[in-house]
Amino acid sequence: MQKVLTIIGARPQFIKASVVSRAIQQTDGVEETILHTGQHFDQNMSEVFFDQLGIPKPDVQLDIHGGNHGEMTGRMLIEIERALLENKPDRVLVYGDTNSTLAGALAAAKLHIPVAHVEAGLRSFNMQMPEEINRILTDQISDLLFCPTDIAVDNLIKEGFAHKSAKVFQVGDVMQDAAILFSKKATVPTNFSLPDGFVLATLHRAENTDSPTRLASIVNALNYIHSEIAPVVLPLHPRTRKLIAEQQITLDVHLVEPVGYLEMLWLLDHAGLVLTDSGGVQKEAFFFHKACVTMRDQTEWVELVESGANELVGADADMILQAAHKNYGRTVADDSQIYGGGLAAGKLVGQIIKASTVAI
Ligand code: UD1
Ligand code: UDP
Repeated sequence: MQKVLTIIGARPQFIKASVVSRAIQQTDGVEETILHTGQHFDQNMSEVFFDQLGIPKPDVQLDIHGGNHGEMTGRMLIEIERALLENKPDRVLVYGDTNSTLAGALAAAKLHIPVAHVEAGLRSFNMQMPEEINRILTDQISDLLFCPTDIAVDNLIKEGFAHKSAKVFQVGDVMQDAAILFSKKATVPTNFSLPDGFVLATLHRAENTDSPTRLASIVNALNYIHSEIAPVVLPLHPRTRKLIAEQQITLDVHLVEPVGYLEMLWLLDHAGLVLTDSGGVQKEAFFFHKACVTMRDQTEWVELVESGANELVGADADMILQAAHKNYGRTVADDSQIYGGGLAAGKLVGQIIKASTVAI
């Protein structure tokens, strides 16, 4: 029996892990232990996803959050190493590009425990982003790299992975597995009564929220879109809530608390436009055939921009407004299944089993 220890800690990782965890449960010869770092900890940023998506309760629950990047990552490294020494897994599984991802991969690699990275190979080519640092370093110390797209594979090839012993697989995107699996259970948020066609917005990335100029510019654009185009529904990330309160910025849109995944799927399905700086939400807009306007300077999901499904506009208020006008109500098609059509989790668990057989 191969013992896999999954390390998760942030909202998008719970969603990604939910489908992989199911695939592990349906596969003989592998069992999973789940470690939650505690990076996200509010009920609506963590527990709700375990409840809604049927993720097993974490076997190891750390309580590490807040502080600067070094402090958070360092504290995680210490505690994860301890948990790995105790649990002695055959493999560690990490997701995406958060501080929890890097701390988990580093703790495992230093103990010579092989690491599988789900969402490998994504690049924004912007080293100012904490996510870019986390994903590049995690890829370097993983031995199984599960890429969601062809472009992610190309990125790794350009970085020399064709000549390394690590194995690179294009398995598709586990987020599409999750969207397909759970969309049947999509649920209208409590007390939500707006008609269809609202603009669904999310905003939390450090490059936007930590720059007072970018934050003010985006908020201006959101306020204008809300009054002139269609109501803007914004489930507000705690990071953004804090910064907006600190800077006393007036955000005059339909604000809601962060919602569960089933409610988010409902909102995506009923929106007239998606406006976001999230990685995951850019693809989910596409899964629900909605045009997306992305308030960032780069995206790792370049195929969406190249196909015209996503318009990348940065944080300039005029650019955001123009793109919102242009894209509102526009639908997009997913003809070529660029994210694999919902089969990623099964494929990657299959490769994990195969890798352990080869190692024996
Ligand atoms: C993290 C990831 C980011 C990812 C995002 C998903 C890193 C470097 N960043 O950003 O890549 O897109 O998660 O949502 O790992 N907070 C709460 N309650 C919570 C969670 C967070 O109050 O449940 C507060 C924290 O205390 C902190 C702030 O929000 O003050 C930011 O949290 P943090 O985990 O550092 O980064 P995110 O912005 O969530
Ligand atoms: N999400 C959610 N509730 C919300 C906002 C987002 O369930 O209120 C989901 C969203 O549908 C996607 C994931 O969280 O699946 C994206 O997480 P986030 O935007 O926090 O991080 P990123 O993808 O940018 O790393």
